[in-house]
Amino acid sequence: MPSFLEALREGYSRDTLRAETPESIAEVAADPAGFIDNLLDPPASLTLPDGSQGAAVPSTTLWYIDGATFLGALYIRHHLNENLEKVGGHVGYAVRPGARGHGYASAMLAQGLDYIRANLPLQRVLLTVNALNPASIRVIEKNGGQHTASIPHIWRPGETALHYWIAL
Ligand SMILES: CC(C)(COP(=O)(O)OP(=O)(O)OC[C@H]1O[C@@H](n2cnc3c(N)ncnc32)[C@H](O)[C@@H]1OP(=O)(O)O)[C@@H](O)C(=O)NCCC(=O)NCCS
Repeated sequence: MPSFLEALREGYSRDTLRAETPESIAEVAADPAGFIDNLLDPPASLTLPDGSQGAAVPSTTLWYIDGATFLGALYIRHHLNENLEKVGGHVGYAVRPGARGHGYASAMLAQGLDYIRANLPLQRVLLTVNALNPASIRVIEKNGGQHTASIPHIWRPGETALHYWIAL
């Protein structure tokens, strides 16, 4: 937990569409046990990027760590809904700013795909990525992603979301 908080303060965000704020970090710091409980048993609803409430699909969060050091995390959605079919997909991930450029995202996604093969009844997974995020596009392509579509980003007007499928 201390290392996770350090990552948040370094600029790591749990949501690629929204940065953490001093308040969101203080909330985690004030109740680490509650935060972990939420990770292990996620709530059935969530606040969408436009601030509205939406239903959450079942999900699993996997932390990528080196000993006691938090490096990044994978967010696995067990199935898609109408929003996730457009932006979000089955798998999201992020690496803390200080640990980028060492191949961690590529390794983390490869291990996440193994986790899905072993634990979920999915034959293929959708990953979506902003066209302005070349590092993430590379990570997806290195893991076998096939580009199938480019659509207007539903949460970021004027931007484009690329759709990639990875066969399992
Ligand atoms: C995207 C992100 C996960 C990448 O993490 P990372 O651990 O640095 O990624 P890796 O080191 O595994 O690989 C990055 C690859 O992109 C390449 N890359 C990095 N910046 C690049 C750029 N500007 N243009 C092209 N390729 C780039 C790297 O060279 C590397 O490819 P290589 O292995 O062939 O050399 C990280 O930047 C991050 O957390 N960003 C914020 C959250 C986010 O965008 N998540 C993805 C949402 S879809």
